[in-house]
Amino acid sequence: MSNLAYDQNGKEIQSDDSQPDENQTVTPENLEDIRPIPRVTIQAFCETEAVSQVFEMTAQDRRMAKAHVKVHTGGISAAVEFYANAPTPNLIAVETSKSGDALVEELSGLAEVCDAETKVLVIGAFNDIVMYRDLISRGVSEYLVAPVKMADIMAVVTNIYVNPESGVLGRTIAFIGAKGGSGSSTISHNIAWAISSTYQTDVVLADMDFAFGTANINLDQDPTQGMAEAVYSADRVDDILLDRLLEKCAEHLSLLAAPSTLDRTYDFDQKAFNQVIEVAQRGVPYVIADLPQQWTSWTKEVLCAADEVVLTAYPDLTNLRNTKNLIDKLIELRPNDPKPKLILNQVGVPKRPEINVSDFLAPLDLEPMAVIPFEPALFGTAANNGQMISEADAKHPVSETFDTIAQILTGKAEFKPEKSKMFDIRALLKRKKK
Ligand SMILES: Nc1ncnc2c1ncn2[C@@H]1O[C@H](COP(=O)(O)OP(=O)(O)O)[C@@H](O)[C@H]1O
Ligand SMILES: [Mg+2]
Repeated sequence: MSNLAYDQNGKEIQSDDSQPDENQTVTPENLEDIRPIPRVTIQAFCETEAVSQVFEMTAQDRRMAKAHVKVHTGGISAAVEFYANAPTPNLIAVETSKSGDALVEELSGLAEVCDAETKVLVIGAFNDIVMYRDLISRGVSEYLVAPVKMADIMAVVTNIYVNPESGVLGRTIAFIGAKGGSGSSTISHNIAWAISSTYQTDVVLADMDFAFGTANINLDQDPTQGMAEAVYSADRVDDILLDRLLEKCAEHLSLLAAPSTLDRTYDFDQKAFNQVIEVAQRGVPYVIADLPQQWTSWTKEVLCAADEVVLTAYPDLTNLRNTKNLIDKLIELRPNDPKPKLILNQVGVPKRPEINVSDFLAPLDLEPMAVIPFEPALFGTAANNGQMISEADAKHPVSETFDTIAQILTGKAEFKPEKSKMFDIRALLKRKKK
């Protein structure tokens, strides 16, 4: 909920037909027709035992098996207090006995602590159409009058996250290196981990490097064929098959692992990955695509379709040329999308002649999202132990950098290029020399 007064829903609601369209929304009567709810996080703040109980029961329903539901006591004020120091989930449900200005005021407080993409369901005591319209125009996704039934809540969640009219749930972030070995895969795994653990929002990490993928090693998983099966059965991939192929790595992180074997060669059609990405996007808030360093019809297709592209490079001449070519080509191919984001990695390898960071950046007309120093002990230990960097050393500045990148890519922090100048690579290098 970005701003109570100007939410995207507000625009649709200004006309008189502001009631939900019965033809498009799921109505509470037909619970049997409700599809399983995707991997969304829902937190409820209830004032009465009756509403709490309904949420607890809803959480147990088979259709909610993939969703994460937490029920708290206390209404909007408890939610405001809670989220002052915690990231907001996909959906917050709040129960309130207030109405009119008092309710609007409380909700404004909630809006201030809410991330932009978080949806809000209000459960109130008053059956008042004017108030309903007012709340919807202020960005509340739905207003239900207590007492509520399980079916009411499921219908709201379905209308927000399952119905095609509400758009896809998930965003895809594609990672590719400017040159093999730049660290693109390692960074993509750590960002998937950071998003899923910090924001407790579900992430699917798709390892698309069929021959040499390392996500299974870095996340300490047994070798499986998730990604391969998803691509080779593309015509029948749906949410049920996808669920079977996902390997759970942490509470909110699942992996589509690459086979990482050379039993066959891997040549794909341009659209080979479209279906699996589409299905994954309908089921989870974030899909991280770890692409091999290749320029083929299918890698280009995945890069074109992604919501965000992250390039990883280290500062030598080949990386500079490739980064420049990739940036120019991606801007040409995706003129209406955000520019690719750049991470400079492995900066400061001892004795290796490097292009100075500012000289590297000069021809690119792009400030990096992060500059990560060469830290062989840290990365080597993490890789050998099948750990993420933050598991190996949570307090290391690189762990903080990954958190910042996760914030930027999820829109929880604004990427302000001029601020990145504050990033002092010399400080990091100095630290290394100690
Ligand atoms: N900042 C860094 N410092 C030291 N080693 C790194 C750093 N980033 C990545 N590495 C290591 O570099 C190697 C190549 O990384 P990888 O992620 O496989 O690259 P890519 O996917 O771009 O080919 C891995 O062994 C990884 O642990
Ligand atoms: Mg890689």
